[in-house]
This record gives sequence, C-alpha cells and structure tokens, in this order.
Amino acid sequence: MPAGEEKQVPARACSLILGHSQPFGGLFTFRSCGRFGARIVGVTREDREVESFEELIALSEGADISGWDFSWLAGRATEERPPWGYAARLAERLAAAQASLDIQTEGGEVLAEAHSFPLTAVATESWPPNVLAATSRLHPRGVVVVADPDEPPLPFAEAAFDLVSSRHPATVWWDEIARVLRPGGIYFAQHVGPRSAFELIEFFLGPQTGAAARDPRDEVTAAQAAGLEIIDVQTARTRMVIHDVAAVVYLLRKVVWWLPGFTVEQYRSRLRELHDRIERDGPFIAHSTRHLIEARRR
Ligand SMILES: C[S@@+](CC[C@H](N)C(=O)[O-])C[C@H]1O[C@@H](n2cnc3c(N)ncnc32)[C@H](O)[C@@H]1O
Repeated sequence: MPAGEEKQVPARACSLILGHSQPFGGLFTFRSCGRFGARIVGVTREDREVESFEELIALSEGADISGWDFSWLAGRATEERPPWGYAARLAERLAAAQASLDIQTEGGEVLAEAHSFPLTAVATESWPPNVLAATSRLHPRGVVVVADPDEPPLPFAEAAFDLVSSRHPATVWWDEIARVLRPGGIYFAQHVGPRSAFELIEFFLGPQTGAAARDPRDEVTAAQAAGLEIIDVQTARTRMVIHDVAAVVYLLRKVVWWLPGFTVEQYRSRLRELHDRIERDGPFIAHSTRHLIEARRR
C-alpha cells in the first residue's frame, strides 16, 4: 500500500499478518487495533527509524515466539495467501458438520476464525504452551482441546468424526485420519508443500539437493492407500517479502524446522551478510508452497 495512505482492515488482521489471511501486501504499520478492526498506514523504509544490525538482532531475540500469531512481523515481513481461502472454506464445512476434529491446532488461531462449530468439536495439539493457548481460545467457543503427542493413535474411536481438518501439520498420519473418519466423512486441509521458503533456508545452508519432501502427488498416493478418495487438490506458490533481519531471526526462532537448532550465535556472520544485502538491494524475497487437499473416506 502507498506510503501515507490509511485504510481500515478487519479485526482479524490484527493478529493474522503472516500466519493466516493477509489480504494486503507491502509495508504498513498498525495505527489502532480493536474489536471492529484496525487502521493501518503505509510506510516506506525511509519513514522508519533506521535500526542497526545489533538493534535488530536484540529486538528479535527478545520477541515472544509462542503461539502461531505472526503479528510481531507487521511492517517487517509479509506473506501472500493462497487463493482458495482456507479459513473461510473450513468455516463452511464446520457449519455443516456434526462432529469435527482439527489436528495440530497450535493456539487454535485459524480454527477460531470459524463462526460456528458442530455440537461435538475437538482439536488436538502437542506442544504444552500451545495446548494452554488453544484451550483458552477455543473452550469458550465450545471446542475441546486434547493434548496429544502427535503420534498414532489419535485418541478417538473409529468413525468418530465426519470432518477432520488440519492446516500446516508438521506430520500427516493418513491411516489415523481415515480411521477416525466416518464413511463419507471429509478430510479438509492446507499442507505446506515441497521446498517451501527454500530461498531463505538455502541462504543459510547452501543448495539443498535430493528428493523434496511434501510433494502433493506423494500425499495423494498415501491418502488413497489409507482408504480416502481425493475430491480436490490445488497448489500455490506464494510470495514472502522480508524487509529486515529482525524478521528473519524471528521466523527462524519460531518456525523451528526451517533451520533446526538455529541460534543467532551460530549464524551471526551469515545474518550480517543478509542484513547488508537487504540494506543494499532491498527486501529478501522467498516463496512458500502450499496445497489444499480435500478427500472423502470411502
Ligand atoms: C505449523 S503448526 C500449524 C498450526 C495451525 N494448524 C496453523 O496452521 O496455524 C503445526 C504444529 O507445529 C508445532 N510447533 C510449532 N512450533 C513448535 C515448536 N517451537 N516446538 C515444537 N512444536 C512446535 C505445533 O505444536 C503445531 O501442532
């Protein structure tokens, strides 16, 4: 959005900058954030105080990285959303379901965007701080949060649900998804695809060769083998724009599987190079890959 221009965005934008729906690109900063929405105002790099490398590192090392809310990145990084609108489509399916399960709900941020839930609605999460966050967000909405180690078996009976959903699961246990779905029940999910954010990962690790994991074609085969029939698969490659090294450190601390064991100390010289490059050439561009997958239990 142009520098200086102000516009109103929905309330959910306050907390959904990178993790969820993010309908605007470019640099902006929040002017106010409340129940009814947020006012954002466009800024240019020149408008912002110039922060030194050390200031940016200190800022991002001190940031709270719990939950799956990326609003800390406002003004520092943006990510385009896939075109299909996962949260809205999930909400439609939840409104029509009788019993639903959301797997790896994190803090329940995406699930909580739904306007209504079936009489029986459950979500699982493995990481204790997220279990707490999801419980406080979802229990008032009537969704029970179950702490689960994210390994088979899912703690539910066979055919317990007519809708199972998951966004960006770290692991997908197809046999378990099929087992807890009723015949005719639906798995509706958005998965991270192959080589997602690899421009950033390869900046630190060098070229990554070998077969790419998370290929949607492999997932289709695995889903079919588990007894699901595919209704829809769509893929997207979406643009991520990173404006400073603080955003990089924040992302690498939070998305722990991008650079396992990441510490600033270990990568300080590479981070410095990245900072200098952004200062010289402008934002670092990377791409996320995503696929929507919808399948029916035979
Ligand atoms: C990528 S998150 C997706 C969460 C949610 N469905 C969404 O799309 O917003 C998937 C899983 O990663 C796990 N996870 C995230 N950060 C973690 C961390 N620092 N350590 C361990 N697990 C983590 C969470 O427990 C979560 O269940």
